[in-house]
Amino acid sequence: MKKPRLALLACAAVMAVAAFPACAQSASKLKVGLMLPYTGTYASLGNAIENGFRLYVSEQGGKLGGHEIEFYKVDDESEPSKATDNVNKLIKRDQVDVLVGTVHSGVALAMAKVAKETGTLLIVPNAGADALTGPLCAKNIWRTSFSNWQPGYATGVIAAQKGYKKAMSITWGYAAGTEAVKGFTEAFEKGGGKVVKDLTLPFPNVEFQALLTEIAAQKPDVVFAFFAGGGAVKFVKDYDAAGLRKSIPLMGSGFLTDGTLEAQGASAQGIVTSLHYADNIETPRNTAFRNKYAVTYKTMPDVYAVQGYDAAQLLHSGLTAVKGDFSKKDELYYAMGKTTIASPRGKLAFSAAHNPIQDFYIREVKGNYNVITGVAVPALADPARGCKM
Ligand code: PHB
Repeated sequence: MKKPRLALLACAAVMAVAAFPACAQSASKLKVGLMLPYTGTYASLGNAIENGFRLYVSEQGGKLGGHEIEFYKVDDESEPSKATDNVNKLIKRDQVDVLVGTVHSGVALAMAKVAKETGTLLIVPNAGADALTGPLCAKNIWRTSFSNWQPGYATGVIAAQKGYKKAMSITWGYAAGTEAVKGFTEAFEKGGGKVVKDLTLPFPNVEFQALLTEIAAQKPDVVFAFFAGGGAVKFVKDYDAAGLRKSIPLMGSGFLTDGTLEAQGASAQGIVTSLHYADNIETPRNTAFRNKYAVTYKTMPDVYAVQGYDAAQLLHSGLTAVKGDFSKKDELYYAMGKTTIASPRGKLAFSAAHNPIQDFYIREVKGNYNVITGVAVPALADPARGCKM
């Protein structure tokens, strides 16, 4: 049984609150460990998630569910081989109460194993590894983003509706890419298409040339791609430079063009993707969020910022329901499961496996924006294959 680590309990245990005013002062602090990539191809994603999380905390006057928040940070470098050591820095060294992370599916899988063993609450603000809300699902593991299957599947629905018959896929050969391709293939082939070839390269390589040559030779009707961050910028530019943009439509999970458009410029124009967020969701909630984010960070938010913001909202909502009593874990998780969050993306509810049930939009790149042109699949839930809670 994991010991609650709230400073309040530590102080009470030594019966010294009155003698040590510092204890009383830090009485209700909750330690949040941010394990995110701050270097490498996903660095901008990690920063956006942290910004989003901090923005919500500051909107609540620096508190979640009545607790002041104390942050601890580790740069996970999107490096699975270092993940267990990194997560243990937060759990054993810093004694955090809550883990928030990460972006990379392989790193998140290692985090989830440690979270399960130690009973630490883990909120995943991006990584889509299907297993996190599948075979690895647990009462203390939550996700405010998506499963890799979800945007892949939604993109497959759109590609089939457009009447494409022959597709190729291209991605990094790790869970995020291969699971997105599986989702795409499932929907595309259900809709009458065929994925004739899957191309991969190791994460985070960006030497796309040989693979682009193969696409040009095979001439499919459409290409499905999963790339994100710095790798997505380079891929979209290389696809255009290889002369493929005009001849073979490029589609992808929306990460291909999210938070990347300024760098991709003309090469990204017209790309159609599917995702659970888009820049022009015209609701008061999204407008207020975007304005506040822009003023605070001098840059526009993207899907990653939204997911980080909602990780803080989910924690706040659960804690508020248990009147801030973090030791009441069963009640806390029950409340988190029942909550519907007013996310900038729209209403956000959670499946029994703790994954978002959400609309997947059809988006098209226009200028520096991913603009909604329709809904690919409303209220799409991950099938949660293998989850036994
Ligand atoms: C992942 O590794 O799960 C991942 C990374 C970046 C994304 C989406 C998914 O944009």
